[in-house]
Amino acid sequence: MKIGIDKIGFAAPGYVLDLADLALARQVDPNKYKLGLLQSQMAVAPITQDIVTLGAQAAQAILTNEDKAQIDMIIVGTESSIDQSKAAAVFIHGLLGINPFARSIEIKEACYGATAGLVLAKSHIAQSPNSKVLVIASDIAKYGIASAGEPTQGAGAVAMLVTADPAIMVLHDDNVCQTRDIMDFWRPNEDKYPRVDGRFSTVQYTDCLTTTFAEYQKRTGKKLADFAAMCLHIPFSKQGLKGLQAIGKEDEATLDRLTARFHEAIVYNKLVGNIYTGSIFLSLLSLLENSQALKAGDDILFYSYGSGAVCELFSGRLVEGYQNQLDNNRLESLNQRTPLTVEDYEALFFEEIQVDETGKAINIPTDEADFALIDIQDHKRIYRKK
Ligand code: CAA
Repeated sequence: MKIGIDKIGFAAPGYVLDLADLALARQVDPNKYKLGLLQSQMAVAPITQDIVTLGAQAAQAILTNEDKAQIDMIIVGTESSIDQSKAAAVFIHGLLGINPFARSIEIKEACYGATAGLVLAKSHIAQSPNSKVLVIASDIAKYGIASAGEPTQGAGAVAMLVTADPAIMVLHDDNVCQTRDIMDFWRPNEDKYPRVDGRFSTVQYTDCLTTTFAEYQKRTGKKLADFAAMCLHIPFSKQGLKGLQAIGKEDEATLDRLTARFHEAIVYNKLVGNIYTGSIFLSLLSLLENSQALKAGDDILFYSYGSGAVCELFSGRLVEGYQNQLDNNRLESLNQRTPLTVEDYEALFFEEIQVDETGKAINIPTDEADFALIDIQDHKRIYRKK
């Protein structure tokens, strides 16, 4: 049975900060962000937007009523969860009006969680070919004002519908994972922002890739030259490029070809920033919507990396007519976001929902987005769908 990605959607909050402005404010050469990190802008979320609203928005963009009736599992991968117990998928299930007889869960392992969701979705469809699984990667990446990670921040969600006989990509059965118990990026319960050993994390990202790729080649017999493109986890675009170069350095012609595709695969990531679990899938979306070089039958290699660390290499094949499932106006929508000054961004960064002694929110602003957090009552988050 062929199983894979039938539809893919994306949502980002409506605010954006230009990294040239951030560089100026931080007294850093703008080329450090533009060329050193290969990033141009970052998406910024107000307090009325979170992983639930962004995830619901990304899914709403692709689902029909028929899909909603057939979905029997929703998996949200995230590392910026809004509740220690209740899964974001349950809120999204309610907001979207999904079939009540569905399973709704949240998966956590840093930026890797949604890849685990995709694997689980595939196994589920193998057992229930008529059902559909909604996999959502939704995150808000915040490192801290003037921190090393600040220019790599971002916010957004990618939603994928996983089905039998998919219209975009069939996933192969060639997955190879690796787990390493390391502390390169983590967020203790008492901390608002992650702790990160930045340099160590970049070394681990690449070392996990080279060692897992060696194992992947041994098990599958596939070479880099067999792939039309590669999508990697993009914490910032330069990191992905370095990963590709690390495994491609012995085949210059293939590396040149895959580097051209790589630049098409980071068009959106450069404008959105790191969206943790969704970054690799945003890169896929960017590749599919910005490359003229791909065709049905092409194989794409994926490298998913979540600090801590778990990584996975896997691949998929583009299906005839995949172009019909895409959105050709995405760049236009990204360009319509409201630009922020650094002062505005800093104000939004520090904004926090305050609750009174009864657990009621006292400072939630109005948000005109299709999905928004509109209140907290008795410590319960209340969302609105337009
Ligand atoms: N012009 C051009 N390039 C410049 C420049 C200038 N004026 N100034 C500096 N650069 C280049 C540097 O040479 C460097 O490039 P190379 O790595 O290719 O040499 C690049 O800009 C970045 O400079 P630094 O390494 O000095 O930057 P930094 O130390 O201030 O920050 C970082 C880098 C530590 C990775 C930081 O961005 C960070 O902490 N990020 C968060 C952690 C992260 O993303 N880790 C990635 C792997 S972990 C993961 O993938 C999971 C996840 O999502 C978090």
